[in-house]
Amino acid sequence: MKLLKYALLGGLAVSPASAMADELNLICSADVVICEKLVSEFEASHSDIDVNMVRLSSGEAYAKIRAEARNPQTDLWWGGTGDPHLQAGQDGLSAKYESPMLGELQDWAQGQAKVSDYHTVGVYSGALGWGYNTKILEEKGIAPPMCWADLLDPALKGEIQIADPNSSGTAYTTLATLVQLLGEDEAFDFLKKMHANVSQYTKSGSAPVKAAARGETGLGIVFQHDAVAQAVAGFPIGVVAPCEGTGYEIGSMSMVEGAQNPEAAKTFYDWVLTAEVQSLMPEAGSFQIPSNASAKPPKEAPDLSTIKLIDYDFAEYGSAERRKALLARWDKEIGSLPLQ
Ligand code: G6P
Repeated sequence: MKLLKYALLGGLAVSPASAMADELNLICSADVVICEKLVSEFEASHSDIDVNMVRLSSGEAYAKIRAEARNPQTDLWWGGTGDPHLQAGQDGLSAKYESPMLGELQDWAQGQAKVSDYHTVGVYSGALGWGYNTKILEEKGIAPPMCWADLLDPALKGEIQIADPNSSGTAYTTLATLVQLLGEDEAFDFLKKMHANVSQYTKSGSAPVKAAARGETGLGIVFQHDAVAQAVAGFPIGVVAPCEGTGYEIGSMSMVEGAQNPEAAKTFYDWVLTAEVQSLMPEAGSFQIPSNASAKPPKEAPDLSTIKLIDYDFAEYGSAERRKALLARWDKEIGSLPLQ
C-alpha cells in the first residue's frame, strides 16, 4: 500500500519523515488472536498505515516502554490490565490524550482516563477467577474449589498454575485483589500456603487456563473470560467466580510519550474505541465487557452484575510506589521459593 501511495506522488521526493507517518508500532497485551484481528481490520480500513505489532504481557510491556523512554520505539499500547498503564502515566511514559470518543465510553472507562489525567483509558473489563478441568478434578475426586480459601486444599497439590505478577497483569491483579480482600500480610501468608499447590508461575496471564484446557494442570487462576474462551472452544473447563469476592481489570490503552508516529497512534486509538470495532471481539474468542457503551457485550461474557466484586482501588494499586513494593515483596517471599 505504501508503495502505491508513493508511486502516486509521482516525481516528488518523499522524505524519510513522511515515510515514517505510515507506520504504527503497537504493543498488544491481550490475547494474540484479538491482537491479530484488530491489526488486520485496522489495516483493511486504513490502507495508508502499516502496523508492526508485538504481543507482550502487561508487565513486560510496561518494562519495554520504560526501557525505551529516551528513544521510544513503540507508539501505542493497547490492552492488558490497567495497573501498569496507570503506572506508566504516573512515570511520564505515556502521553496525555483526550479522545473525541471518550463521551461514548462506560463510566468505568472514563474513570480510568480521569484518574490518570487522560494518560490512559479503559478499553474492556473482566473479573478475576479461575478455570478448572472438570475431567481431571473428577478423576482425582477433588471437589471443584469455589472460594479462594479452597485453593489451599492439599488435594490440589501440583494442580494450580498462575502467572508471575512481574510479567503478567492478570497475576498482579490477583496479588492486589488478595491484598484488598485479606490485608497485605495475610495475602502473602495465603500465597505462601498456595505455593505448595502451584506447579508453575507462567509468563502470560492466560497460559494457566490454556494448560488446564489441554489437561496439563487441574486449574488456572485467570480472568473468568479467559476460562470462558476455553469452554467455548470445547474444552472441559468449569468457570469459577470466587465466593469471597474478587477483583477485576479495566483493560487499558496508552499512547507513548514522544512516540514517533503520534498521528497514526491517534487514528488507531479513536478507531479502537468505536462500538463497531469493539463488537468484533467475540469473533476472536475475546469475551471481555467492551468499554464503548453502545458495543454489545458478548453473550458468553461473565455477567459482572452477578459476581461479587471488590471495590478495587485502581489509583492505589496502579500507583508506581504500591506496584513496585508489592512486586518486590512477591519476589522476595514467593518467587524465591522452590517449586515442589
Ligand atoms: C488476557 C485477558 C485480558 C488481559 C490480559 C493480561 O489476554 O484476556 O483481558 O488484559 O490477559 O495479560 P497478562 O499476560 O499481562 O496477564
